[in-house]
Amino acid sequence: MIFLDKILREKVLPGFQQFFTPLQVRKLKTLGKSLLSIGKRNDLTFLAQLFGTDKWGEHWYTPHYAFHFKSIRKKKINLLEIGVGGYDKPFSGGASLRMWKRYFPKAHIFSFDIYDKKPHEESRIRIFQGSQVDPEFLDNICAEIGDLDIIIDDGSHLNEHVLFTFHHLFPKLNIGGIYVVEDTQTSYWEHYGGQMEDRNNPNSIMGYFKSLADGLNHSEFKNKDYQPSYLDLNITSIHFYHNLIFIYKGENSEVSNLNKKP
Ligand SMILES: C[S@@+](CC[C@H](N)C(=O)[O-])C[C@H]1O[C@@H](n2cnc3c(N)ncnc32)[C@H](O)[C@@H]1O
Repeated sequence: MIFLDKILREKVLPGFQQFFTPLQVRKLKTLGKSLLSIGKRNDLTFLAQLFGTDKWGEHWYTPHYAFHFKSIRKKKINLLEIGVGGYDKPFSGGASLRMWKRYFPKAHIFSFDIYDKKPHEESRIRIFQGSQVDPEFLDNICAEIGDLDIIIDDGSHLNEHVLFTFHHLFPKLNIGGIYVVEDTQTSYWEHYGGQMEDRNNPNSIMGYFKSLADGLNHSEFKNKDYQPSYLDLNITSIHFYHNLIFIYKGENSEVSNLNKKP
């Protein structure tokens, strides 16, 4: 199938491109790939390769995504991914959105980018334009989307942006929802606002999310004045992989079996 896609891309489509507008070419390619994906729509790594997202090939994320998402694959969910891809080229990008649409047959897929990415809209895929650090924009799109079951941050990957967006959007995620942060290697890279000296620095992506792991055990803290934070009370698990984090939202109200606060 991937071989057939390569032939279509390299031999067939270039000959046709002169007769079609870029939008028609985009739609034709999507139609071809959609047909090629029939029978393989539960295979996320296959879909990633077919639609050309770097979630497999440059990164190795799809097996982790499949592990966390397989139980909700057939549910009617709303998924928001930050970052359409392709940067300022309107017809480039959108690969992961097309992949998610085929993987989740009943989901509505939402995304936004700082650039205009409307050409990638199709049925069940809606795209907004704005920045992940604009609180008013984030509030407006959340109001339009309604329920949010999955949020994936694949936007600027700047440490400050990732933490700002998490603080703003995590409260809007449904209980039972999953928040994903990609490309956490920027925690160590100065040009993304990261650093290597203090790997627990709470201003870096990894330092910050590692610090939230203690909150899972807040009922065990030996400090009678400790007031659990919103995140202590609403995160039930955090999963770290190479450059990838999954944060599960739920009520973390389990009491301690032994902790008697002094
Ligand atoms: C890595 S690409 C996304 C790839 C896509 N999610 C995929 O897997 O196929 C990152 C995108 O984030 C966008 N971006 C950068 N800064 C942003 C910001 N502040 N807010 C929203 N999007 C941003 C870029 O324009 C770029 O298109």
